[in-house]
Amino acid sequence: VDFQEAGLAKSELRSLLEKKLLPHMMDYGHPAFQSMFNSFPEEGAEWGGRIALAYNQGVTNWQVSPAGASLEELCGRALCRLFGLDSDAEATFMYCGTYANHQALYMALHRYAEKRGFDLARDGLSGFSDLTRLKVLASRDAHFSLRHTLRFLGLGENSLVPLNVDRKRRIDVLQLKRQLPALRDQADIICLVATAGTTSTGSVDPLLPLAEISRSLNSWFHVDGAYGLAYSLVPERKDLFKGMDLADSLSWDPHKQLGVPIPCSLLFVRDKREFNRMTLYSDYFNRPHDNKPNPGLKSAPSTRPFSALPLAVSLRFQGLNNVIERLRAPLENIRLAAKKIKVLQDVELCLEPDTGILCFRITPESVPATRLNRLQEYIFQRIMEEGRRTLSITRLDQDKVLRLVVVSPQTGSRDLLETVETARSLAAEFEA
Ligand SMILES: Cc1ncc(COP(=O)(O)O)c(C=O)c1O
Repeated sequence: VDFQEAGLAKSELRSLLEKKLLPHMMDYGHPAFQSMFNSFPEEGAEWGGRIALAYNQGVTNWQVSPAGASLEELCGRALCRLFGLDSDAEATFMYCGTYANHQALYMALHRYAEKRGFDLARDGLSGFSDLTRLKVLASRDAHFSLRHTLRFLGLGENSLVPLNVDRKRRIDVLQLKRQLPALRDQADIICLVATAGTTSTGSVDPLLPLAEISRSLNSWFHVDGAYGLAYSLVPERKDLFKGMDLADSLSWDPHKQLGVPIPCSLLFVRDKREFNRMTLYSDYFNRPHDNKPNPGLKSAPSTRPFSALPLAVSLRFQGLNNVIERLRAPLENIRLAAKKIKVLQDVELCLEPDTGILCFRITPESVPATRLNRLQEYIFQRIMEEGRRTLSITRLDQDKVLRLVVVSPQTGSRDLLETVETARSLAAEFEA
């Protein structure tokens, strides 16, 4: 890419893009796209996105877009009701799940400082007498955005205490309970983070017992539902999310599986007053006595995209029944594929999936255990190089595992099993 002085003719630019760029774009709508949390916009979402672009794509405040500022508020409240949150709950739109987690931990630390008698916003970390005691508890499988957050907050990654997981890769509550006396003794727990749908395996941590533990620790309870929270809307899976309404804050990324344009993320709080921890006034806007809706008082960005519009139009256009069906399809397809591969001799199902992610290993008799990690890497690379399908690879403890992700209804269980078959046949070419 080089930026020349005179503008290119549209036809020339189009042919450049068609030749050089488009062939390398990923087709999210292809049933063999099974690697990540991306999908094409749903029809209503696309329509909402076009309206935003044509009118006010930016929602900064009332002056920039009265419609945007109001709809963001209304959409946030409607989502609180949809997820069954308390009547005092509220939401703010965010650029991504990473920043939603970041803000949640900042608010947790702010509240903790308040209990210690000082204002974190004003005094910063200098108000704490011993920073090394401040800890955040989260699953060892929690998303790495938590580590980013702890870097940003100045607490450092060492303040994260990774919690062990059980066979389903959910936080092991019994083990955590045994750890509690020592943790109470040696640390000040500012926040317990549960993940509702871990990135690697889609596991949902046991929210209710974790909420109780968090209450006993007097700590903030954050649920990272960036990936999984949507599935709490599917009636058969609701039980998995019991206790989510007890969270002080919850992150959610509709941009992962709802077919809305990126970015579209939200942070919910159980008590709207918690957002006051974010409020920063200025002279030219975000002024203290304005009584108009102002999303910028609840989260940091001034320039913010009108993400609420594609989301609201999409949900109203489809209707909740269709939305739930759209969410249910991948869960069912993953469940069916898991059932089928369980009986194969040379395939190990790593765990029964909670949501829409399938983790497995190819384990032929001819390959010694010490070479199995290398085999999964080999299969992953071969499939990605061939370019006919995509999958991903991750690590569960010491084991490299292959990972299939489904977020759109186009990918059926047969498509998933074809990827497993491809992996099995490639294993035959691996030189152990
Ligand atoms: C559980 C979880 N939390 C947070 C994130 C980060 O979200 P984002 O990519 O929107 O920053 C992800 C992304 O995959 C995730 O899976």
